[in-house]
Amino acid sequence: MAGPQNLTIALSKGRIFKDTLPLLERVGIRPSDDPDTSRKLILDTNEPHIKLVIIRASDVPTYVEYGAADLGVAGKDVLMEHSGEGLYEPLDLGIARCRLMVAGRPGAADGPGRLRVATKYVHSARAFFAAKGVQAEVIKLYGSMELAPIVGLADCIVDVVDTGNTLKANGLVPLEHMADISSRLVVNRASMKMKHEAVKRFIAAMRDAVAGGTEEV
Ligand code: ATP
Ligand code: PRP
Repeated sequence: MAGPQNLTIALSKGRIFKDTLPLLERVGIRPSDDPDTSRKLILDTNEPHIKLVIIRASDVPTYVEYGAADLGVAGKDVLMEHSGEGLYEPLDLGIARCRLMVAGRPGAADGPGRLRVATKYVHSARAFFAAKGVQAEVIKLYGSMELAPIVGLADCIVDVVDTGNTLKANGLVPLEHMADISSRLVVNRASMKMKHEAVKRFIAAMRDAVAGGTEEV
């Protein structure tokens, strides 16, 4: 009889790996290395048919959409920005919780005229201000958004906020709530069909793990 189908799971190092690890542990999957100390980009696990690929958080939807990984874990903020359509999103893992917000100096979004908004979330920002009927010029940045209003690059920013400490440390305040964010399990559409048994088992086990169970894959 053939063994279990191979599965490749895309994760980013740092927060997502750290928060996904206890869930993987509950479903009986233990990675061979820690991506925060190892330089390896493909990690074996104790399950010979399951491998992890370690990539940038914002690249996870792309790898899964193109089938380079069967499954992945990505923040809803990243998924909202990703324009492709080849993904299933069957499970909210409830990890890496934060809020997508407009932030700036107090009153920064109140002024008349066109608003300059710095963000790495260009699509979400455009859609949010367009829905409000506010004219916004969106400036793409790749990080450290909090600096933009301080140096006069933008009136406000769109970024994820958790404790609010980063905003506070830079003299900014949250201005508008855009969305509650957590990380989701995403699945390649073809893998869902071609590796149905293995994918279905993995999703069911992860669903159980999120609820506190320890059903192994
Ligand atoms: P990239 O490397 O692609 O630029 P990144 O540096 O934003 O991505 P992380 O900082 O690891 O990657 O964040 C991964 C995900 O964790 C984000 O997409 C978001 O959903 C969530 N997140 C980001 N910052 C926080 C935070 N301070 N608290 C809780 N969750 C967060
Ligand atoms: C994210 C985000 C904010 C910060 C918000 O950055 O871009 O700068 O977290 O979190 P806070 O509201 O708790 O301050 P990053 O991923 O660099 O955060 P990290 O320092 O927690 O890694």
